[in-house]
Amino acid sequence: MRMIITAGPTREPIDPVRFISNRSTGRMGFALAERAVARGHAVTLVSGPVTLSTPAGVTRVDVESAREMLAAVESALDTCDALVMCAAVADFRPAQVSAVKLKKRELSPSLLLEPNPDILTSVLPRKGPRLFIGFAAETGDPKLEARRKLEEKGLDLIVANDVSQPDAGFAVDTNRVTLIPRNGEPQSWPLLSKTEVADRIVAWMENFEAGRAST
Ligand code: CTP
Repeated sequence: MRMIITAGPTREPIDPVRFISNRSTGRMGFALAERAVARGHAVTLVSGPVTLSTPAGVTRVDVESAREMLAAVESALDTCDALVMCAAVADFRPAQVSAVKLKKRELSPSLLLEPNPDILTSVLPRKGPRLFIGFAAETGDPKLEARRKLEEKGLDLIVANDVSQPDAGFAVDTNRVTLIPRNGEPQSWPLLSKTEVADRIVAWMENFEAGRAST
């Protein structure tokens, strides 16, 4: 398969030195890219700002903002069979970006924001037979919210995890996820390394493709 995998946070500038972002470190997405290449797939890794090194054999495209990530996904979409949206995309960006560093006195204590495009929803009209996978990081029971996102974003699979657990989610090497496929029963995996979670997700994708080829 030829895959686009997105990873990391997006960074939404206020001025040349300030931004809003989130706690994603990119580990899950980079693990996915590494395991996918190891299993023989071609990977374009669209990454927000992270400190991780690029896995061997991966084509990496670095982006900062959600709109840059959307543009990178759009330009690689025609030549891919699967899109895995592992990135933690900022839902909002500052409504005004200053080209010069703002002085304290010029900053308002409340920041006016405007919505970013939803990347999955934006590319959904071009999905065709491609496999679309999303991630849902929730605090509390992730399954209900994840099911809603699966429907809303037209996904084949959503990988849900509870980021309020100290051993899962952001900035740790382990994850505890539930896979919710569009067709089929949810499966919850135990606490695993992100590498093992990644390997199993890629295996799930291979099975999905194999099942489709045989019908
Ligand atoms: N996503 C996206 N574009 C965005 C925001 C999210 O494509 N602007 C993708 C994420 O990469 C992820 C999925 O949508 O695969 C779910 O992301 P999440 O942040 O959990 O969902 P939201 O739609 O932002 O929902 P909410 O903030 O209500 O939880």
